[in-house]
Amino acid sequence: MTIKEYIASRKQQIKEYVEGLRVKPHLVIVQINEDQASNAYVKGKLKDSAELGIDANLIKLPVETSEEELLKLIDSLNHDDSVDAFIVQMPLPKHIDEEKIKLAVSPKKDVDGFHPLSELNPCTPQGIIDYLHAEGVQMQGLNALVIGRSNIVGKPMAKLLLKENCNVTTVHSKTTKDDMAFYIKHADIIVIAIGKQHFLDEKYEYKKDAIIVDVGISRDETGLHGDAVPNLPVKLQTPVPGGVGLLTRLSLIENLLKIYNKKYKI
Ligand code: GUN
Repeated sequence: MTIKEYIASRKQQIKEYVEGLRVKPHLVIVQINEDQASNAYVKGKLKDSAELGIDANLIKLPVETSEEELLKLIDSLNHDDSVDAFIVQMPLPKHIDEEKIKLAVSPKKDVDGFHPLSELNPCTPQGIIDYLHAEGVQMQGLNALVIGRSNIVGKPMAKLLLKENCNVTTVHSKTTKDDMAFYIKHADIIVIAIGKQHFLDEKYEYKKDAIIVDVGISRDETGLHGDAVPNLPVKLQTPVPGGVGLLTRLSLIENLLKIYNKKYKI
């Protein structure tokens, strides 16, 4: 099953489910940046919501917005009962402390799963795990390698793979070249999220049954590229574009429905 087929089938189920709800789930997206990637994510999230009958609206604020103003808005969204969940799109301008913002969002409305008390997981790692399950991958005992240690992807990804009983290794920018090659050669699952175009290529040796999940996305004059060269000699490799980005968007909707169902005790 390709990612596109998987997404289409889940979306159809979600659409039918939402059609049966009396009150539509309501998602708010707050964006305070002019980041190209963020614009694309936000556009995608609004498009998915419209397609699935979810009520979503964007609050786009100027980049000069102060931390205090943003905290005030978050407080009002936390207390607005008509809003089921909301996200504050990252990255934020430098004068705003992202960690403080993540802690300000009520865990009950934290569809991103960023708050330490949130019962949900961040959308990208959760979307990847759900897809691997849908693909029938038996993860227990596999060597999983996470390349990158960001708070949004690398760290939570490692935690979720550990929960699936994988042997998890995280490597990063300070890992030596020799060690990087060693871990890649022994990995059954590689999740790469470093934003370095075509970092994984033919110079590395891979297990022929390996699975590569490519979270990277970078743009140049020739188009969008992942962190891995397409068509490496492995069993399964997610494409860019049309891969993990779609899983993240689906996962956001799945998280929203979990919040909604808990709120309305469905
Ligand atoms: N920026 C990149 N990915 C994400 C995400 O999953 N959530 C939010 N809020 N911002 C992001």
